[in-house]
This record gives sequence, structure tokens and C-alpha cells, in this order.
Amino acid sequence: DATDKGEFRHYMMKEIYEQPNVISACLEGRISDSKVLTSCFGAESDFLKKVENIHIVACGTSYHAGMVAKYWIEELAGLPCSVEVASEYRYRKVAVPKNTLFLTLSQSGETADTLAALRMAKELNYLTTLAICNVPSSTLVRESALTLLTNAGAEIGVASTKAFTTQLTALLITSVAIAVENGLSAEKEKTLVQAMRSLPACVNEALQQDGHIKQIADKFANKHNALFLGRGAMFPIALEGSLKLKEISYIHAEAYPAGELKHGPLALVDEDMPIITLVPHNGMLDKIKSNLQEVAARGGELYVFADRETDLHNEENITFSEVPKVEAILEPIVHTIPLQLLSYHVAVVKGTDVDQPRNLAKSVTVE
Ligand code: G6P
Repeated sequence: DATDKGEFRHYMMKEIYEQPNVISACLEGRISDSKVLTSCFGAESDFLKKVENIHIVACGTSYHAGMVAKYWIEELAGLPCSVEVASEYRYRKVAVPKNTLFLTLSQSGETADTLAALRMAKELNYLTTLAICNVPSSTLVRESALTLLTNAGAEIGVASTKAFTTQLTALLITSVAIAVENGLSAEKEKTLVQAMRSLPACVNEALQQDGHIKQIADKFANKHNALFLGRGAMFPIALEGSLKLKEISYIHAEAYPAGELKHGPLALVDEDMPIITLVPHNGMLDKIKSNLQEVAARGGELYVFADRETDLHNEENITFSEVPKVEAILEPIVHTIPLQLLSYHVAVVKGTDVDQPRNLAKSVTVE
């Protein structure tokens, strides 16, 4: 029952802990042992063969999920993908290349700007419209040609958690489905599908760090600012981590692609500024390590989230938090978990209203 907090003090924590189960529910019936089942897009899954371009439009946390998908779609399918907040998209003249898929992301399916963007898109020359949404009876689902439900169940905490990771799961399914029509080998598809199958267990493993993250949260309670850094598909996760911290703990937080450090944010770094860095286990590892040194040299207080094989560990000014070692494609999803836990525990230490942060609404149905 979604309205029952069970053993948890807040809905947000209950929803964080539901993630292994709801990610399984999102994958259910959409993948076999080795393939994505394109029937999950309904009778008109033919669009997968025709699509040459993708426009993703969303707001808030859903927008961050869309930003991750851009990395996946361009990497796996080799198709151009652009991502935009709905409040900007709806008020400009948009150029729509031939055979472009219009993809909206929304937990509620009732966000005013996202609905307005969809209505505008339907007047333009798109191939079709697809909504990745959590509420089957929503306006967005009703008005879109195609739907992929995220199956996260009712989300009550205003700060979105399980809706985000299930959106990412649904986007991974969609990215692989598009990639299969664009030259992805059967062998690679199988590897990706098997990675998806391991996702609930990986998320569960990431949740095991809860006790450790609760301890480091104490150090954030009297901070006024925080900086989140990531590179590649981990940059949108840094944005999402900073949004969570702002939303429920009211600490001003910003996120930057780590390569932009020298172009401004480095000027803010001193011993009072916690810097949360997401370290992926890929070709960017060495570059991120050198970004870390730049920050450490200026006395910045570093919080590093990485898997053990990155060889990073606790040092003076560096607090290391372990994230499970997973397939690269899953890293953005798995790295989301400790950041959700961090913002939750900081908010609890600060005594804010975790589930109903001031001035914010679960669903923004007016402009
Ligand atoms: C509000 C919520 C956010 C959410 C955003 C978009 O700002 O507080 O958690 O990400 O709206 O909502 P949607 O329902 O369209 O995903």
C-alpha cells in the first residue's frame, strides 16, 4: 500500500528502498534472456525501424533522466538526440528533422509544461509521440500515441526517487530497442539485457551503504553550499544529486561537468565547500582523478563515490564512499542511490520536512 510508510519514517526513504522491486517491475515482460521485447511499445512498435532522430522533453528530475538517455542513445544507436526542458521547448520555434521521435518523460503525466510541449509537438511533423510515464490514467498517457509505463507505483515524497530510476530503466530499454534497428549486434544486445537483469541486485547492493552515508551526512548539516561533479552520463546524475540536496535540505548546490572546473567553479573551492564527485569506471577515470587533485590542492573537502577497483580510498580531505562495480551502462542508475540517501539523511539531520519541502509541489499542473 503506497500510503503506508511501513517501517520507514518518511515516504521518501520507503520509496528509495522500493527501488530494487520497482526496477524489476519496470523490466518485467520487456526483456527476455537476451533481447528487448519491442512489443512493450504496443502495436505500433514499427516506429523503431523508422526513427532517425530523437527529441526528449521533460521537467525537473524527469529532465535529468532524459539527459542520461542522450548519452545512451547516441552511444548505442548512433542517432542524434536532443534534450530540453518543456518550459523552454514550448515557447520557441523548433526545427524537426525528418523521422524524429518526440519523447516525453514524466512521473505524474500532469506537468503543465510537458503537456503543452506534447500538444505543440503534435502539430509539428514528428514521426510519433512516446510518453515514458508512471501514471497510466494520466493526461500525458492519454494524449501520446505510444506509452511505456515505468511501473514504479505511487510516489508520494515530493523529491522524486523511484520514479527517476525506473525512468532510466525504461529509457535503457528504449535506447537498446532503437539501437537494435541501427546496427547493435545480437551479442551486444544480450550483454546489455543481462546487465539490465542484474540491475535490481546492483541497486540493492548500493543501498547497503546507507549506514555509511548517514554518517557522512552529519558533515553537511551546517554547510551552505555544495558542488557536484560528474563527467559523461554521470554529469546528469550530478545534476540530479544537487537537485535532491536543494529540494529537501535547502543547501545551495550546483552541478558541473568536471571538465568545466577550471572555467569558474574552482574559484569557489575552499575548506568550507564539500565537493561530491561521481567517479565512473571508464576511460574518464584518469581525467576525473586529475580533477580531484585540482580540488584537493585548493583545500576542498572531497566526497568521492566510486567502485573499489578505481583504487580511490579515504585520504586527508577525501571521504570515499563505495558504489558497487557494475557494467558501465548501469553506472548512472547505481550512482543515483547514494546521492538520494545523502540528501535524505542531510535533510533529516537538519530537521526539514522531507516529504513536503517548502514551496514545492509533487506535480506542477499550472505554469
Ligand atoms: C515537480 C516535482 C519533481 C518532478 C517535476 C516534474 O517539480 O517536485 O519531483 O521531477 O515536477 O514532474 P513530472 O511528474 O513531470 O515528472
